Amino acid sequence: MWGGRFSEGPASVMREINASIPFDKRLWRQDIAGSKAHVAMLAKQGIVAAADAEAISDGLDRVAAEYAAEGVPEDLALEDIHMVTESRLAELIGPTAGRLHTARSRNDQVATDFRLWVRDAIDQVEDALAALQRALVTRAGEHADSVMPGFTHLQSAQPVTLGHHLMAYYEMVARDRSRFTDARARLNRCPLGSAALAGTGYPIDRHMTAAALGFDGPTANSLDSVSDRDFALDYLMAATQCSLHLSRLAEEFIIWASQPFGFVSLSDQWSTGSSIMPQKRNPDAAELVRGHAGRIAGCMTALTITMKGLPLAYSKDMQDDKPPVFEAHDLLGLSIAAMTGMVESATFRTDRMRALAESGFSTATDLADWLVREAGLPFREAHHVTGRAVKLAEDRGCRLDQLPLDALQTVDPRIAESCFALLSVDASVASRASHGGTAPSQVRERIAEARTSLGMT
Ligand code: ARG
Repeated sequence: MWGGRFSEGPASVMREINASIPFDKRLWRQDIAGSKAHVAMLAKQGIVAAADAEAISDGLDRVAAEYAAEGVPEDLALEDIHMVTESRLAELIGPTAGRLHTARSRNDQVATDFRLWVRDAIDQVEDALAALQRALVTRAGEHADSVMPGFTHLQSAQPVTLGHHLMAYYEMVARDRSRFTDARARLNRCPLGSAALAGTGYPIDRHMTAAALGFDGPTANSLDSVSDRDFALDYLMAATQCSLHLSRLAEEFIIWASQPFGFVSLSDQWSTGSSIMPQKRNPDAAELVRGHAGRIAGCMTALTITMKGLPLAYSKDMQDDKPPVFEAHDLLGLSIAAMTGMVESATFRTDRMRALAESGFSTATDLADWLVREAGLPFREAHHVTGRAVKLAEDRGCRLDQLPLDALQTVDPRIAESCFALLSVDASVASRASHGGTAPSQVRERIAEARTSLGMT
């Protein structure tokens, strides 16, 4: 394809290091679509004869049919998907194939293909995340009243509801989706027609190709168009953030599924056994979601470092943009689907959650608040008094609300019978009805809003 000025072929390692076909064959659909849009434009602009354009377009359809049926042949000598496709086109339709590359370079071609691919990837991720959100909202709706311990430092803090906890992840996923949406909007300009770096002297119509490929319009600067991969990094950064959220949810499932917690039992479909310990039900999928987050962050780092310090315009380093994006996308797709499956099918042990919420002095803040409200103590003093009450309960091996009133009054005589009504975990949870709080009434409102925005009602 470019051998005119060479008298010797490449060294075999040169061929190997240069070839991207083993991975960029994943761009074949986008490459064919881009070429078809390009040649239709060349014909309309009178740059290529209509009959030639038709032959090229039909030929590209045949190549696509072959790829769909048999896969893309991996000919390292042909380097990449662009050359493999063009060379197959030439075999099928003859020298007319050579007219396709008029007013185009592989530099704008690959930038276009890759944007199209990342755009499809974003659409897939968005659909998958919406499914995860639906699963979270559904399970949250079942558990708007189920009390569980809320933690800080992984120490019992205040009771919350399981519905509230699950809806926290709904919110994270909502922001993840918005990051992908933003990335898609920025990405959706078409670089095709930027040619190698400087644009072209042919009378092309970039608006036409942009529209044909579903872009909002052409990019504005040819140098920028062929040399930036920020759209891929936007995707990887959004993927990294999303995978961090998935990893935290996975981590909670792992902890919750452990015997000392026993908050959840994962369905058989999402558990694995041990080859030696017959009792085992391991949360391997959740652990791999946690692990994949590290790999996805690694992909993001890889492309970040590849791009750092590259002068304008295209350099071959940029061929290394694709493997990390493909890898991250595959890992993210699996991670989202696995978390969705686990959320949908998990059995939550609400009895166990309630028992632990009741055992950890998790309503101590409620007693302090009562002392502020009913006995007029400054919060700091109320905090101190309550701390002594907790110590007393701990010494006696009972819950706060199991201490007799006279015992509590030895801690502070201002404590009265009416505080007991607040010391149950249900009362504690119900009282936290500030906007976005854990009260079941609040959780139900948020769930209703979420269902509406997901089109579930
Ligand atoms: N396979 C190349 C890539 O992915 C296509 C662009 C090649 N351009 C060039 N001037 N060698 O980056």
